[in-house]
Amino acid sequence: MNDPLGIPSPWARRFAHLVEKGGAVLDLAAGAGRHARFFAGRGHPVVAVDRNLDGMADLDPEGPVEQVKADLEDGSPWPLGDRQFAGIIVSNYLHRPLLPRLAAALAPGGVLIYETFAVGQAAFGRPSSADYLLRPNELLHAFADALTIVAFEHGIDYAPGPKAVQRLAAVKGRDLVPL
Ligand SMILES: C[S@@+](CC[C@H](N)C(=O)[O-])C[C@H]1O[C@@H](n2cnc3c(N)ncnc32)[C@H](O)[C@@H]1O
Repeated sequence: MNDPLGIPSPWARRFAHLVEKGGAVLDLAAGAGRHARFFAGRGHPVVAVDRNLDGMADLDPEGPVEQVKADLEDGSPWPLGDRQFAGIIVSNYLHRPLLPRLAAALAPGGVLIYETFAVGQAAFGRPSSADYLLRPNELLHAFADALTIVAFEHGIDYAPGPKAVQRLAAVKGRDLVPL
């Protein structure tokens, strides 16, 4: 389910520099917390949300990663209230009703880094349900009004194995950022 090597994705690494130094980062559906760990290692306080925190059991509860156990799809209120973040990372997770919430949870100047599977992934493996697969341009349309799109990809990534993915990096209230 999680990246087998626990290595942060190249997409997250590529845009991590856009997150304000020391700013809080949200890792949504964090799994074993590969991105929570990565951003904590860069000096950010991190909130890692997942319905299953077992993969982060080794993390120090007094450390920089605050773990929040929450089911994001059961109709419960958004678990983070009106907290805002300098960075939000979502990787290999999609629950469409949450997309507007992500833009709202970004602080001014904040950065959204999103990547997950796209339509066509069924040819390569799981997931295969349309509920979990982004349509062409879907993240662009979801965030273009609220955020400035910095980068977007949609296609087959052959490294390390073929998968259909869509990726977006976007900022709130910033027109031009260093790539
Ligand atoms: C494929 S893993 C991705 C983990 C991590 N983002 C990564 O890229 O390594 C998907 C994660 O979504 C979480 N998840 C799935 N449904 C969820 C829900 N309804 N509420 C909260 N977390 C959920 C799972 O527990 C799992 O950790």
